[in-house]
Amino acid sequence: VAIINHSVVKVIDLVPGSVKDLPVIDHTMLEADVFWREHVCKHRPVIIKGGATHWPAIRKWGQPGYLEATAPTQEVMYGTTFNCEPPPVLGKSMQIKSVADGLRDMRLASDVSTCSMPAISVPPEWQDDLGQYNFLPDRLAKKPRAYGKMRIFVYKNASTEWHYHPIDETLTTQLAGTKRISFFRLTAKNWIDYQPVLAANLHHLDCGRHFFPKNGSLVKYEGTLEPGDVAYLPPFWWHGIDPMDSSIGATLAYCFRTPWHRFGHWKDPATRALMSRKRKSVYSAPALMARLALSGLARQLRGERWHEEI
Ligand SMILES: [Fe+2]
Repeated sequence: VAIINHSVVKVIDLVPGSVKDLPVIDHTMLEADVFWREHVCKHRPVIIKGGATHWPAIRKWGQPGYLEATAPTQEVMYGTTFNCEPPPVLGKSMQIKSVADGLRDMRLASDVSTCSMPAISVPPEWQDDLGQYNFLPDRLAKKPRAYGKMRIFVYKNASTEWHYHPIDETLTTQLAGTKRISFFRLTAKNWIDYQPVLAANLHHLDCGRHFFPKNGSLVKYEGTLEPGDVAYLPPFWWHGIDPMDSSIGATLAYCFRTPWHRFGHWKDPATRALMSRKRKSVYSAPALMARLALSGLARQLRGERWHEEI
């Protein structure tokens, strides 16, 4: 008799640290210039409460049957694990199926099953359900350097493993379901205490906590995303995400270009990792060095520091 363990993997609490509330600002209180100056230009994550509540998706996507009834035949990757690192491989826990079939299978799956259709390009059938961000004018929402502009994640119980983006800004926009999100930033001082453990997935072992520093000095900033909420996710910030319910959830990752003065700092461990030969980079080494020099010069001219307190 096969015994199947249906336990749902959660990732946030696998990394020990002291927890503080992620700053939350109501979307009606956030001016575009304040968002740009105080968050994007300082790489400070924030939850913009209700930042997408005016989008048709917020009204429609949580309604039972709506997504399935409008689902495209577009083929995507469909997995039965959480969104792990490295990503699951096609043919093992991943298969290709249409969005329509994937949504049907998610609906039929039990509340303790894990299902994921990660990083779908926005199907034409759903484009009109999305909208604009009032706090991000078009003139600032420039084409991202590496990531696609918009990717949709549809899931059931699928957490997203701790990771960071070495490039581009992201607005994680919750369209259906509720999620918990946690952030931390590593420095040159504690990178070696955390990054190798996370890269080796040792935090998933039962004894995972023992691989981390015992002093609990890491500060994690955490908050909840409900439909219509937007989390600003700067590059270099590690983030882990756990669904808080077992309904079919949907999240849009909207990316835009990082301004030059926030591109990178050669002493920052995340920037140094970008220079590592092991990591596939969108830039050659000389091109990356030139961009880092430009970034440092731009910061100097503006009188800005690289690290800003949250
Ligand atoms: Fe991410």
